[in-house]
Amino acid sequence: MLKGKKIVLGITGGIAAYKSAELTRALIKEGAQVKVIMTKSAAEFITPLTLQTLSQNLVYTDMFVPTEKYDMAHIALADFADAFVIAPATGNIIGKIASGIADDLLSTTIMAGTKPTLICLAMNDKMLANPIVQENIKRLKKYGYIVMESGVGELACKTQGAGRLPEVSEIVEEIESLLTPKDFAGQKFLITAGPTQEPMDPVRFITNLSSGKMGYALAKAAQRRGACVTLISGPTNLVAPPVEKLIPVRTARQMHKAVMENYKKAAIIIKAAAVADYRPKEFSKDKLKKAGKTLSLNLEKNPDIIEEIGKNKGSRIVVGFAMETQNLLANARKKLSKKKMDLIVANDLRQEGAGFQADTNIITIIDRKGKTESLGKMTKIEAADEILNHIKSLIKKKGGGRS
Ligand code: CTP
Repeated sequence: MLKGKKIVLGITGGIAAYKSAELTRALIKEGAQVKVIMTKSAAEFITPLTLQTLSQNLVYTDMFVPTEKYDMAHIALADFADAFVIAPATGNIIGKIASGIADDLLSTTIMAGTKPTLICLAMNDKMLANPIVQENIKRLKKYGYIVMESGVGELACKTQGAGRLPEVSEIVEEIESLLTPKDFAGQKFLITAGPTQEPMDPVRFITNLSSGKMGYALAKAAQRRGACVTLISGPTNLVAPPVEKLIPVRTARQMHKAVMENYKKAAIIIKAAAVADYRPKEFSKDKLKKAGKTLSLNLEKNPDIIEEIGKNKGSRIVVGFAMETQNLLANARKKLSKKKMDLIVANDLRQEGAGFQADTNIITIIDRKGKTESLGKMTKIEAADEILNHIKSLIKKKGGGRS
């Protein structure tokens, strides 16, 4: 969430300038206040009125416009910002910043700015490859500017290559990360997410309704807070957050193998996956044909991954989930103790706004001493941050976690 965060968005003159409208909208939707500075060339590609309407703020285009106020726009904007974003950033603006040139409102504001600055490159692939441009990018990084590498794909000039403005969702994520304190810097997390699928033949499988949203939110929140996250994910329809390592799996046994191979490196293990407890005993290589009125399926037990981890966890912090439809707290406490977890996150499937498919959750966090905190309905990313806050106090108390 960017609630209350103040962003100064600089738009320069490239064809990707039209995407800045979508970016402004996305930032406003996340709760940010946005003030836009456009260069003269940017205004050739998209009108200030569009940005004014979307940002709900005056758009700044000129350095030397007399106003009723006495404050100088570039200093006032530099003071206003929690972060600066230039998207799209052309070769020209990065050349100016890298050379200390301040000859218009945007370059002057950036020179006066002391807050984190994200530069989202977008230009023709040959311009990007120019050694002077590359040198300028290096120089910007050296001085602490965060340069978002441009995406690879089809460019406006009909060529394929590097130079595309990164996706708006990626830019928003980068801004969120930029403004998030790194209180888990260097901590290694292993997070599992999503359902597992247990096949019975090439076209059919047993699964559950897990969407993966809670596990992905945890991975995103931990990564934003500076952690190194390995995400082991069952099949989902989600775009993976920008984690250190993503390991896609399908079955519970594949998830078990991936967890066992990776958990030793982690200091904090969160098992948000909805692992199928049973799998079909036999797998038919050919599609099972319809026969008879009923069909019996023999199932056998899958390994309980978190239980195995719990036995060998050492100083690691292990967090599990309990999704219940009855006796929420009693069942969750039983799982916490049996599987030797340090924390369990319980939710009641019958509550509206909790559980698998929703973007929200209603969670209760229980620790080994029985301390129980029930939280109201919140987005899964907010719930993830609450869980991480509990993990943080646990690390402080018991000294677990390592970098
Ligand atoms: N879990 C696991 N391996 C399994 C089953 C569950 O690691 N084979 C983990 C889940 O990721 C979750 C916790 O155990 O963190 C509790 O999962 P849940 O399905 O609620 O518990 P079960 O022990 O399977 O109990 P039941 O299905 O009977 O409620």
